[in-house]
Amino acid sequence: MQRRTFLNLGIAGLGTTVAMASPIPVQFIPNPSKEKWAILFGTWYGTSRDASIWISEGMGGIAAVFDIRQVPADLSSYDHLIVGTSIESGKGRKELETYLGANAAKIKDKIRALFVVCGNRGQKPGPQQTTTYVDSYLAKLCQVGTVPSHVFGGRITKSVMPPDVYSSIEKMYQSMNIPLDMDNLSRAECLQFGKEVLAGKA
Ligand SMILES: Cc1cc2nc3c(=O)[nH]c(=O)nc-3n(C[C@H](O)[C@H](O)[C@H](O)COP(=O)(O)O)c2cc1C
Repeated sequence: MQRRTFLNLGIAGLGTTVAMASPIPVQFIPNPSKEKWAILFGTWYGTSRDASIWISEGMGGIAAVFDIRQVPADLSSYDHLIVGTSIESGKGRKELETYLGANAAKIKDKIRALFVVCGNRGQKPGPQQTTTYVDSYLAKLCQVGTVPSHVFGGRITKSVMPPDVYSSIEKMYQSMNIPLDMDNLSRAECLQFGKEVLAGKA
């Protein structure tokens, strides 16, 4: 074996060792694109994560997706942003509020769309939820005026919820005859929203 070949194998072997020592969690790896898009989302149990991935898929898979708890400190390499959040007790995650409180002024001119995921007691979200959760809440946090937005239906996923949270929801939903585990997030709606945002007409 030539010395150069040996060295290359040695470095490759080292890379494998490092990768095995600290595995990287599954990530959505965006398709290459001329203009860089990113979706920042806040979630407790994953509905907004899946909505974000499906919105990106509707855009041809070009938008990187970031949980607000893992968002990069520097977003300056992104040209366009979409911000979304799930709702608990009328609000998004504290981390999202904190992040936007500190960074909205820096990123607001890049925000092209907003979305919200909410349970809405099992009913399809409508104009009232857009007013309450987008216009009066998320748009204000983001310091944006009117940008395209969408409110998606939510889920209740027992297997990923702490038992005390689930049982409080369970009691409320049972009293209102709402099915558990509900899943009202529509992949088709997410794909369509992504397509429209990319086309500039959401
Ligand atoms: C503790 C709790 C509080 C909630 N509060 C609201 C609420 O105020 N309004 C609403 O429409 N949905 C509410 N929901 C429903 C969530 O918005 C719905 O489950 C959503 O899919 C959660 O998204 P996530 O999986 O991304 O965390 C609540 C759910 C939980 C568990």
